[in-house]
Amino acid sequence: MLKIGLIGCGRISKNHFEAIARQPDAQCIACCDIIEDRAREAAQKYNISTWTTNYEQMLQNPEIDLISICTPSGLHPEHGILAARAGKHVLTEKPMACRLNEADELIAACDQAGVKLFVVLQNRLNPSIQLVRRAFEEGRFGRIYMITSNVFWTRPQDYYDMAPWRGTWELDGGAFMNQASHYVDMVQWFGGPIAEVKAITATLARNIEAEDTGSAIIRFQNGAISSINVTMLTYPQNLEGSITIFGEKGTVRVAGTSMNKIEHWEFADKQSYDDEIGKYNTNPSSVYGFGHSEYYRNLIGSSHGTAEQISTGPEGRKSLYLLEQIYTNNKPY
Ligand SMILES: NC(=O)c1ccc[n+]([C@@H]2O[C@H](COP(=O)([O-])OP(=O)(O)OC[C@H]3O[C@@H](n4cnc5c(N)ncnc54)[C@H](O)[C@@H]3O)[C@@H](O)[C@H]2O)c1
Repeated sequence: MLKIGLIGCGRISKNHFEAIARQPDAQCIACCDIIEDRAREAAQKYNISTWTTNYEQMLQNPEIDLISICTPSGLHPEHGILAARAGKHVLTEKPMACRLNEADELIAACDQAGVKLFVVLQNRLNPSIQLVRRAFEEGRFGRIYMITSNVFWTRPQDYYDMAPWRGTWELDGGAFMNQASHYVDMVQWFGGPIAEVKAITATLARNIEAEDTGSAIIRFQNGAISSINVTMLTYPQNLEGSITIFGEKGTVRVAGTSMNKIEHWEFADKQSYDDEIGKYNTNPSSVYGFGHSEYYRNLIGSSHGTAEQISTGPEGRKSLYLLEQIYTNNKPY
């Protein structure tokens, strides 16, 4: 039984508590939040034996094997490093850090302590995306020419005002770093090592430090070109979260609200699963998707040696590297 302590009982923690409860061989035994009511209420709601507002105290619990970090993004390295030093495995929500050097410190701390580091990139486990990955690994696309991703979502000012960390450079970043980070990850997962990045971003309508809208253009080392278009200002509601891959021998588009629906699937060769792509579509009620349960299943499987760990620290670092490139090669308005 994997025993888990969770820090940060805010919005995304619900997905973690529910996902952990679905695993027969994992249990959340402690939770922590600096807001006392949130820690207590989470413990009551999810039947967790201990709660605290003091993270260091939770870390002293020898029964805890793994800490799940659901605090604001800029705090992930600090909370992860403390957990690693206490000998706990670390799962961090995305992005693993807001700055690459801090991600490196987290990776190094986990390596030094001999603990595993997991970065939540749950959209990689969407059945639709797993099928595209299978086709990709089977070489069915041939050479990749272009990858585009659109994240046309709506985040009203109220959303940013819910917590003071949202939209700040120190703890969050903007539309690319927070809302679109899964899409940035997906583009680099299929595109590979990066050669060149250019971006234009702007804070057009929301009262936040970081961007609410932007476009990035990427050239990969294999020559493929990519564009990622992101806005949190779509009127009046979320419209699309998509990725389209154009290869020499195949074209695929996965859209829906969070890359959950295969809208186009065409390859020069034919495989038996091509006739069943409808089975791989899902219809999640929120843009977070269903992936957290799958993510914990992968985590437990990889801890038992029965599954390959889907996103390690160095894997999470790759998408953070692209995010940092987008921000540093950017013309903000
Ligand atoms: N995987 C996904 O699809 C997904 C979706 C949403 C959010 N996230 C990520 O999850 C993280 C949290 O986002 P959220 O929307 O739940 O934010 P939130 O503000 O709702 O929750 C964060 C919680 O952390 C607590 N906290 C802050 N500092 C703390 C500290 N020092 N010690 C203990 N608790 C502390 C806050 O009180 C709050 O309850 C972010 O990194 C975000 O990018 C991931």
